[in-house]
Amino acid sequence: MDPETTLEAARERIGACEDTAALKGLEREYVGKQGVVATLLAEIPKLATGERKAHGQKANALKQSILEAIAARQIEFDISKLDAARRADDFDATLPPPLAQRGSLHPITQVTRELEDLFVSMGYEVLDGPEVELDHYNFEALNITKDHPARDSQDTFYCDDVGRLVLRTHTSPVQVRAMEKREPPFRVIAPGRVFRQETTDASHDHTFYQMEGLVVGKDISVAHLIGAMKTLLRGIFGRDLDVRLRPGHFPFVEPGFELDARCPFCEGGCSVCKRTTWIELLPCGLIHPNVLSAGGIDPEVWSGFAFGLGLSRLVMLRHEIDDVRHLLDGDVRFLEQF
Ligand code: DAH
Repeated sequence: MDPETTLEAARERIGACEDTAALKGLEREYVGKQGVVATLLAEIPKLATGERKAHGQKANALKQSILEAIAARQIEFDISKLDAARRADDFDATLPPPLAQRGSLHPITQVTRELEDLFVSMGYEVLDGPEVELDHYNFEALNITKDHPARDSQDTFYCDDVGRLVLRTHTSPVQVRAMEKREPPFRVIAPGRVFRQETTDASHDHTFYQMEGLVVGKDISVAHLIGAMKTLLRGIFGRDLDVRLRPGHFPFVEPGFELDARCPFCEGGCSVCKRTTWIELLPCGLIHPNVLSAGGIDPEVWSGFAFGLGLSRLVMLRHEIDDVRHLLDGDVRFLEQF
């Protein structure tokens, strides 16, 4: 049996096969246990020693070529099968593709961007700060000393054993970082993610968003603070709303306030304002002299105000969301609504 003529004949037969079953039959016939190639190999011991090697190589090359031809034919079958399936589906390559599914910006991102635009239009700079923060910036420089009771209310996640690194519990540390790098007067905001070690419920989550505001200049007073907050309210709710200040205590401001705004959703009381017609908007105050000093700014010359807006809470108010945890759980049914 001559391997070359055998290969030619095999190729012809493989090309004539019409289905996988027929191909499998040929594969058995040529390279199976009792097949043509096996027969060729079995002849080797009968040959003269000098011919054996060449004969063996030819038999193996034949086997290889036949297997390749079979694989190539099988691919042709696969392709025509796919083609047939497409035709049966009325596949029309000229039709436009289905519209790509588009996502949307997270409501927190939306509100952050709106507020950034608003404050930038008032001459504020937008800052970022580290989420893993030094105890120094998160507490000490903000006039919250080691034994200060305000530390207890901050439910801190510590990142090391010595209490030097924390997950920032508020965006206020950016205040001091901003002061260190700037010459007054300046205005900055710092939106971002903050963390508290908290048992979660509908109004508490371990991770949420705040936006810090800081203005340092000459003779900055509570009147400036109120003016800025009224502009903020106009930007958020689209109209002027009355505000009122209640005393509030935060170690980094003096005096400190809780700023309330007239409920934008009702006239005589509703469920959002708990029938009081006022909603708690944000804590704020005039920057404590110790904090200015910690930021390298002379409190005898400069003064300023700061505020801490709860972005998560604001988004909940705006969209009437009843559970903060919706904001972070990534449920598409929730996210699709924005
Ligand atoms: N950092 C405070 C907190 O998260 C909020 C705050 C209060 C920020 C008063 C301020 C401020 O800038 O003036 O509890």
